[in-house]
Order: sequence, then C-alpha cells, then structure tokens
Amino acid sequence: MNLEVLIRREWIDIKVKGIAAKINEEFKNKDLIIICVLKGSFLFVSDLIRNIKNINCYIDFIQISSYGSNTESSGIIKLEKDIGIDIKNQNVLIIDDILDTGSSLSFLVDLFGNRDPKTLKTCVLLDKPERRKFNIKADYVGFEIENKFVVGYGLDYNEKLRELPDIWAVKENIWKRME
Ligand code: IMP
Ligand code: MG
Repeated sequence: MNLEVLIRREWIDIKVKGIAAKINEEFKNKDLIIICVLKGSFLFVSDLIRNIKNINCYIDFIQISSYGSNTESSGIIKLEKDIGIDIKNQNVLIIDDILDTGSSLSFLVDLFGNRDPKTLKTCVLLDKPERRKFNIKADYVGFEIENKFVVGYGLDYNEKLRELPDIWAVKENIWKRME
C-alpha cells in the first residue's frame, strides 16, 4: 500500500498534551467518566489520560462496529460491547479516533444522552469535516484533515496498520477502487 506520512508522532504528542490541558481546565477537581471507543482510539486515550491531572477519572470502553466496506461505513452502527458503569448524573467524555461521516459519534451521543449524564462531551483526534453526513461537531478536536483515508496511531485499514506510531495517508484512491 502506498502511504505518505501525514502527522508525525511529535505533532501528535504536542496536540495530545494540548487537548489534555483543556480537559484538565474544564474538569478540574471533578469526577469524569472517560469512554474509549474501541478499537481505533485506544492509543489516543492511553496517551491522553497520562496527561490528565487533578481529575477523578474512571475509564471505560465501548466497542461499536459499522457494516460496510473497508473504508466506507454504511451508517448502520452495531453495539458490540457496552460500558459497565451507570453514567446517570456523571460527567462523561466520549473519545473516538476520527470523526468522518459522523454516524458513530451521533450514535454514541444518542446512546449516552438517553442515560441522563450530568454533562456529555466528545473528543476526537481527527476530523474530516468534508465527509460529514450527520450534523455533529466534537467538543475537542485534535487535527482537521482533508478527505483522505488515514492509518496508524490506532487507526486501521482492514484491521491492519494500527501499530504505526505516526499517522499516514493512503495515497492511492481506495474509494475509487471500491466502486
Ligand atoms: P463515521 O462514523 O463515519 O464518523 O466514522 C468513524 C469511524 O470510521 C472511526 O471511528 C473509524 O473507525 C472509521 N474511519 C473513518 N475514517 C477513517 C480513516 O480515514 N481511517 C481509518 N478509519 C476511519
Ligand atoms: Mg475502524
């Protein structure tokens, strides 16, 4: 696969620290339930939480999947694994890897919104606003990127390449090839 580096690990580190600083300010001396959306956000969340200070954190995991091809989600989301804690009257922060069409994050905001949290915020490392089909914005965004398929730092292509420490863009036009 033809890859070109898009965001180097040094830039990811700086951005992660910047997002953590904003979260530290917003939730200073409060309780916060952080929900890591599997699988794509596991590296982002693990780096982010190591920069969290003066917050009483509870970390949990949710796994969702969407039917579709390798690069194109169908918009139909399936809940594979739910969190194990009651979030009623709690501050909740959902953390995902990338906001693309918005179907995943919309699904999660609806799901958790219906469980009466005190506050519900969202955070994504990457945002592809051009691809949006659902009217949703994240409260914390790392990088806005153009309409390219990206891999690495937790993000996969067909379950591969999550282990790459930098974020890479796939150069060939996979969408064209899938048509
Ligand atoms: P959405 O539901 O269309 O916003 O897509 C969000 C999910 O699709 C993400 O959590 C990723 O798992 C996956 N995804 C979207 N774009 C990319 C990409 O460029 N690379 C890898 N995964 C992606
Ligand atoms: Mg994925």
